[in-house]
Amino acid sequence: MAEPWWKTAVVYQIYPRSFADSDGDGIGDLPGVLSRLEHLSELGVDVIWLSPVYPSPWDDGGYDIRDYQDIDPIFGTLDDFDRLLAEVHRRGMKLIMDLVVNHTSDEHRWFAASRSAREDAKRDWYWWRPPRAGMAAGAPGAEPTNWQSFFSGPAWHLDEATGEYYLHLFSRRQPDLNWENPEVRQAVYATMRWWLDRGVDGYRMDVINMISKDPALPDGRALPGAPIAQGAEHFIGGPRLHEYLQEMHREVFAPYGERLLTVGEMPGVTVEEAQLFTDPRRGELDMVFQFEHVGLDQGASKWDLRPLDLRELKASLSRWQAGLADVGWNSLYWDNHDQPRVVSRFGDDTAYRVPSAKTLGTVLHLHHGTPYVYQGEEIGMTNSPFASIGEFRDIESVNHYAAAVAAGADPDDVLAALRAKGRDNARTPMQWDASPHAGFTTGTPWLPVNPNFVEVNAAAARADPDSVFHHYRRLIELRHTEPAVAYGSFTMLLPDDDRVYAFTRSYLGVELLVLANLSGVPAAVDLPGWDRAELVLGTHGTGGTGTLRPWESRILRRGAP
Ligand code: NOJ
Repeated sequence: MAEPWWKTAVVYQIYPRSFADSDGDGIGDLPGVLSRLEHLSELGVDVIWLSPVYPSPWDDGGYDIRDYQDIDPIFGTLDDFDRLLAEVHRRGMKLIMDLVVNHTSDEHRWFAASRSAREDAKRDWYWWRPPRAGMAAGAPGAEPTNWQSFFSGPAWHLDEATGEYYLHLFSRRQPDLNWENPEVRQAVYATMRWWLDRGVDGYRMDVINMISKDPALPDGRALPGAPIAQGAEHFIGGPRLHEYLQEMHREVFAPYGERLLTVGEMPGVTVEEAQLFTDPRRGELDMVFQFEHVGLDQGASKWDLRPLDLRELKASLSRWQAGLADVGWNSLYWDNHDQPRVVSRFGDDTAYRVPSAKTLGTVLHLHHGTPYVYQGEEIGMTNSPFASIGEFRDIESVNHYAAAVAAGADPDDVLAALRAKGRDNARTPMQWDASPHAGFTTGTPWLPVNPNFVEVNAAAARADPDSVFHHYRRLIELRHTEPAVAYGSFTMLLPDDDRVYAFTRSYLGVELLVLANLSGVPAAVDLPGWDRAELVLGTHGTGGTGTLRPWESRILRRGAP
């Protein structure tokens, strides 16, 4: 049987608000994306994943959707969307949408109906519950369960008008849909088909492992400072999750055959579960986003900063490589709109910005799985130097700061954590050139441009053959031309080395060796048998094994021509 097309594909994520502004309002839009497609064609990516462009009150960066079947006027119109899709297809690329159906916005008409009266026909489309037995609505601790919202505070909000609480795992403006109700599922499937019939090529599915909750809604085990919300054992990977995904696959995806790509975002998913979700025989998803590797530089929560131990990163990723080697498929990412910039996080964004960005790209792209590039990663964009809490826009950061400071934390410590991990780092405008506002807008950008745009920008990177951009372009090309990159088996080497990340990929007599020094000091490598191997791609032009310079990486090849 032919392998699915997405096994040789690379996906590029666009966060539209921050990508390119065509009309000077300071907010990116669809015509802006259209005007920058040449950048993506040159990079060579196969698929664009568009973060939400639907109408939204913008409480959570567009992940709070008011209408699933339209385009927010700040981004343009459905005609703009159709033009963009046609042009993406004309260039031989595909486009997948973000599917955000664990919750809607509180301004969605479904929720407006649901909250209007206890007797409303859509009441049961969301999770409504009375106060805890024996307690008055609104009293401290009267929430129906002790679950915590991912954005600080309880996961329940009291609706005064009807005297009941509704569940919101994220912001209180993001009420959770009740997937137990078959009408909800059918309504969601209908909107999904509507986009697929328009020509969309698949979905990235937001927190899709939270759609099935234990309907008894038990209290969560108290997990002081746990990295995921308290109560997660009752709403992550819930009892009917596989059933829902199989139903969705049967009723929505299957009729479109092999042309789609589906990737489920799954915080807290284990490799054993991921194998089930992505086993093609089960008809669920093509791949999932897992979070283990981006949780290694934290303690009790994402704000509890801890340095990365490279050996832990290697152990984690190699477990995922092994777990999905024969059944299922990995997705590979460092960055997205929720993560800080990888060159600032795991690399060195000062003295070694360019080689460390390249080397991190090499490591990721040479793993087995489908790589995702987040806008700006391909030019080595860095975290932004936010000066004060007033410069953050993201609800997660703003709420965390308020809650932590109210609980007695030192504001400077909280700010330091936001600077390192806050999601606004990923959302500063794309840096196109050295003109004012980095060529992102002619107006005032909704979030200030990182001041390093004069040096770090796409125009400069495209003009420089040694740039991070051209390195990413070569990595993507290699995946398209060297079957060992897409299909080769993965073997981790030197697992105990705390500076060098080394592994091989083997396929039909070809062997690739990846050597990467993830540190700012030279690192000696002793691996016999590779001295005459061909240098496929390196950061410093040096082949063989021997000593790697700071942040140097090499891809070597031996075996059949
Ligand atoms: C995951 C999304 O990536 C994130 O941006 C959002 O805040 C939550 N899901 C809620 O939709």
